[in-house]
Amino acid sequence: MNTCPTVALAFMGVTMLEACSSGGDDSYTGGDTSNGNGGNESSNGNGYTTSGSNVIIDLSHSAFSKLQNDGWMNFTAMRMLLLKIDSSTYRAFTNLCPHASGRLKWSYNTSTGKFMCGYHGHSYPDDCQSSGTAGGKLDCYTTSYKDNKLTVTVS
Ligand code: FES
Repeated sequence: MNTCPTVALAFMGVTMLEACSSGGDDSYTGGDTSNGNGGNESSNGNGYTTSGSNVIIDLSHSAFSKLQNDGWMNFTAMRMLLLKIDSSTYRAFTNLCPHASGRLKWSYNTSTGKFMCGYHGHSYPDDCQSSGTAGGKLDCYTTSYKDNKLTVTVS
């Protein structure tokens, strides 16, 4: 949940109501919003919440439309790859490449069922068991699905 800093800004003589009222839901969430809310549960308006070692993802949120449309996505904010098996079955993996720890150049080949890391071209099966071409397997997280929410347990 975003907290609108209207009052503080008003004291400084700055009118920035627009910053809170429009512009999409990615305009005010650049930082780690968990800093401001004391507890160990955070919700940042980006379609997911964290609670302890669980990440709870709202699969209907626009932030996860790539997952729905392409069947996979690199969920960089929580450092995981998400893979859609069907409408109620998903897998989650670390996005830490087993070869040399790259996180950002993933692609997914639907026909081979492998993630490919663009740093050095190694690939990793999506079955949570088989080793890739370098460094072992891509580690899986436990997932559960209910009511269009995906819970990933990161531990
Ligand atoms: S870091 Fe991924 S292939 Fe080298």
